[in-house]
Amino acid sequence: MRNARIHPRLLGYLGRALSLELSAVQQYLTQAVLTQAWGLAEAAERFRAETAEEMEHAERIVQRMLMLGVAPNASQLRPAGVARGLAELLLQDAALEDEIVTLYAEAVDFCRRIGDGDNAAFFDALLAEETAHAQEIDEWLAQLGVRAMPQVAERAYF
Ligand SMILES: [Fe+2]
Ligand SMILES: [Fe+2]
Repeated sequence: MRNARIHPRLLGYLGRALSLELSAVQQYLTQAVLTQAWGLAEAAERFRAETAEEMEHAERIVQRMLMLGVAPNASQLRPAGVARGLAELLLQDAALEDEIVTLYAEAVDFCRRIGDGDNAAFFDALLAEETAHAQEIDEWLAQLGVRAMPQVAERAYF
């Protein structure tokens, strides 16, 4: 039974985190299969490794939810995008990783504000790993000669 002391917003963050992590599993798995089909064996291997890392994140969230006495409830699995080339796939990854980083940063802030140090530390560890993922994707794009544009840069300021 659900612990009545759990803040509903904490459950919201966990549910959104599980949805995004499982979406990342689906996206990287799709990219592993696509790049394998394109003959890019090295890229396929990297995407398989990413798939495993995102799966491990999903597992940590499921563990935390069960520990809190709530049923895992991911409800919004995103369709994996398809693309014509590796750079296009990586731009989709950069967008997804940025979204996950933003979610975890918000979750850490919220948990700290309500004095929940344990869950703040839980989200902070995930935040560090996703920040590293986002940097790796940006570096990979840079090697391909593509610059990942943060969404904010697409807005015009006059
Ligand atoms: Fe992840
Ligand atoms: Fe990630």
